[in-house]
Amino acid sequence: MRYIMIAVAALFVFVGLAFAEGGSMKRKPLPFEFGSVVIENFSVNAGLSPVVFEHWLHRSKYSCKVCHVDIGFGMVAGSTKIRAADNGKGFYCGSCHNGKSKDNKKTIFEACSGKDSQKCGICHFTGRNPQREQAFAEFAENLPKERFGNGINWQLAEEKGLINPINHLEGISIARNALAVQKDFSLDAKIAGMPSIIFSHSKHTVWNGCELCHPDIFLGVKKGATKYSMIDLFQGKYCGFCHKKVAFPLSDCQRCHVGPIGQ
Ligand code: HEC
Ligand code: HEC
Ligand code: HEC
Ligand code: HEC
Ligand code: HEC
Ligand code: HEC
Repeated sequence: MRYIMIAVAALFVFVGLAFAEGGSMKRKPLPFEFGSVVIENFSVNAGLSPVVFEHWLHRSKYSCKVCHVDIGFGMVAGSTKIRAADNGKGFYCGSCHNGKSKDNKKTIFEACSGKDSQKCGICHFTGRNPQREQAFAEFAENLPKERFGNGINWQLAEEKGLINPINHLEGISIARNALAVQKDFSLDAKIAGMPSIIFSHSKHTVWNGCELCHPDIFLGVKKGATKYSMIDLFQGKYCGFCHKKVAFPLSDCQRCHVGPIGQ
């Protein structure tokens, strides 16, 4: 018991540091802000406001794999150099925001190439936006709750069929032969008194396919071959790649440490 208290206390100091260091993370994001990314490589120079991309809205409609594997968005803010011309040609945001693709029979508005300059501000806007906050509140209202992140239990929402993220985009996703889904496994937290971690391959594959994790985040050769610690996770590596900014955050200890207590 003493060990676990020390380990946990040390980790909380680390959590504090992680938040203090991370520039834009001066305070904990509110549920509607969690997962929002500001994209600002080119727009300011072009005299436009930077762009805000909301994960909560998009992940409710599409799997992570559609955007991060098939369309090719990077998993670090600002890493994809998105040009207006590319959007206009149907790449990146323009894969869907092309004025032709449909969402529930409604045409999705166009990115960058539209003639209607009033529409540019839907994406090119970083100020406080009460309409978007309201849209989030209405969306979250009937979904299972969680304490951290967006305040939504995305896993349950998907399992219960309350959301149904699309996993294939016509004309963009390549049909692949489905690979055999791997068994769930547990990871020992290696500290007396700390519950071990259960990792579900099948649940993760629903959102991520295989390619989002293998081989970039995990080599996936053999369980146990790569060693990672909680500190690595807080630095945004391994599980922390997603479980820091978009999937439920690392502060939610019990959601990962659910297995039997280590000896
Ligand atoms: C509709 C497309 C779309 C979907 C769906 C999507 N993402 Fe993203 N994601 C993006 C874009 C765009 C960025 C920003 C990329 C850039 O700035 O270069 C991003 C960035 C990220 C980042 C980096 C965030 C940061 O602040 O550095 C992570 C992590 C991430 N996504 C994980 C996920 C996970 C996990 C899922 C599924 C639950 C997901 N994404 C679903 C488009 C998407
Ligand atoms: C895989 C398809 C897809 C991709 C890729 C995508 N979006 Fe969307 N986006 C949608 C859909 C569907 C909606 C909801 C439909 C609507 O509001 O017309 C939406 C809505 C939005 C909204 C909310 C509009 C509002 O006020 O209602 C913004 C802002 C937005 N997207 C920005 C972006 C940006 C920026 C990118 C690229 C970095 C992007 N989207 C990439 C499908 C996509
Ligand atoms: C669906 C979201 C979306 C909409 C709507 C949108 N844009 Fe963009 N635009 C982006 C994203 C994302 C970037 C990349 C931002 C960055 O890196 O600074 C971008 C970048 C740009 C750039 C700088 C890129 C370059 O190649 O130099 C210009 C100029 C631009 N947009 C013009 C427009 C105009 C004009 C409109 C309205 C007719 C518009 N955009 C509407 C998403 C959008
Ligand atoms: C969210 C991330 C994630 C996704 C998605 C994922 N994996 Fe893995 N996979 C892991 C982790 C973590 C390990 C353990 C290896 C490690 O720790 O480096 C692993 C291990 C493996 C192994 C080695 C198994 C063993 O017994 O040692 C194989 C094979 C594998 N994955 C295949 C797949 C396939 C096929 C898919 C898609 C159906 C998939 N993975 C999806 C994270 C993922
Ligand atoms: C996204 C899943 C996840 C969350 C959330 C999470 N952990 Fe972990 N934790 C792990 C993994 C994976 C390991 C490494 C397991 C191994 O050794 O293979 C680990 C290891 C640990 C260890 C062992 C020592 C070390 O540093 O590796 C401790 C102690 C620990 N976690 C405490 C915590 C505490 C406290 C929290 C909440 C602040 C937390 N964890 C949240 C996944 C998680
Ligand atoms: C590629 C992104 C990604 C990586 C890497 C990743 N996860 Fe997840 N994980 C998700 C998403 C998305 C969900 C759905 C829930 C959410 O978004 O909050 C999820 C859900 C979970 C859940 C809840 C599912 C359940 O079993 O009920 C656990 C536990 C979990 N992850 C642990 C881990 C651990 C441990 C690792 C590292 C070995 C890891 N994750 C790596 C994206 C990821």
